Amino acid sequence: ILPNNATIIEVGPRDGLQNEGKVVSTEHKLQFIERLQKAGIQEMELTSFVSPKWVPQMADAKDIMANVEKIGRQFVLTPNEKGINAALESGAQAVAVFVGVSNTFNKKNINKTTDESMEALKPLILKLKQDGVFVRACISTAFYCPFEGAIKPEDTLALCHQFVDWGVDELSVADTIGMATPAESYELFQQLKEAFPDVLLTAHFHDTRKMALANIFAALQAGVDRFDSSAGGLGGCPFAPGATGNVATEDVVNMLNRMGIETGINLDLLCEAVQSIEPHVTNPVQTGMYRLYQNQ
Ligand code: HMG
Ligand code: MG
Repeated sequence: ILPNNATIIEVGPRDGLQNEGKVVSTEHKLQFIERLQKAGIQEMELTSFVSPKWVPQMADAKDIMANVEKIGRQFVLTPNEKGINAALESGAQAVAVFVGVSNTFNKKNINKTTDESMEALKPLILKLKQDGVFVRACISTAFYCPFEGAIKPEDTLALCHQFVDWGVDELSVADTIGMATPAESYELFQQLKEAFPDVLLTAHFHDTRKMALANIFAALQAGVDRFDSSAGGLGGCPFAPGATGNVATEDVVNMLNRMGIETGINLDLLCEAVQSIEPHVTNPVQTGMYRLYQNQ
């Protein structure tokens, strides 16, 4: 049975722009965020507080936070204590932490093994929860790793278990390199849903192999009703070779709307948001719904 409503967590301003070759100005990012909010986006990863040496595109996180309208639930992605403190100081309502199931990937992304990351995150998350902050845990390489290959579902589940034990509010489970099949997606999300009925469960698909919409349908059937996506299909992780953009928000919203699943997002206004950022990114946006919008 499919849900009547689904929630989109827009990750364009963060995942979408972190890997962009051109420098996107703070002003253009803010304009993009504002348009996305106008289109009805209620939850969004606005930026990330990470090392500017590692990810130069996110170096303006503080300026973004100082100038953005605080509408809906605003996430800021952070890898460590320094990032968490900066995020809270900037007025973030909700903190997203991230870790890879794959050790090799985690080492390349955060310069720590998965165990080292978890050890460091535990007291930070416990403190955030004590202080009543919404915590979202992003689980990278939940299906496949660009270095280690297939990931065992039990390893992903075990990592999620730790986060849930520490009281996180949300698990965002990611197919970082867009390799999962709908069958694998259904299987893993069904297991996650059964294991963690009391946390918000979100699916984060990259569309590298054009299976993301099919994976979303599979996850819906497994009971998932929250999806990370990126307007214009922008994005990718700089430390996951071959990873391309997230599934495009406009294509997800169109699919859900057509299936009678309400998202609260206006498709035309969403395409206007894409139009506002397109001149400032390297590649033309080629998503299905954006092309139709341009040709109408
Ligand atoms: P390190 O070099 O081991 O860390 O990097 P360090 O503690 O030695 O610090 C190095 C420098 O960074 C120092 O500055 C720190 O102050 C600074 P220096 O003294 O050299 O001038 N620094 C920071 N600056 C700002 N904010 C911070 C911060 N922390 C340290 N929070 C570190 C370790 C974690 C910092 C680095 O590896 C890093 O920033 N990694 C982030 C990588 C990243 O952003 N990846 C993309 C996001 S994850 C993703 O896309 C996946 C996801 O979408 C799901 C999916 O699709 O799989 C979520
Ligand atoms: Mg991602």
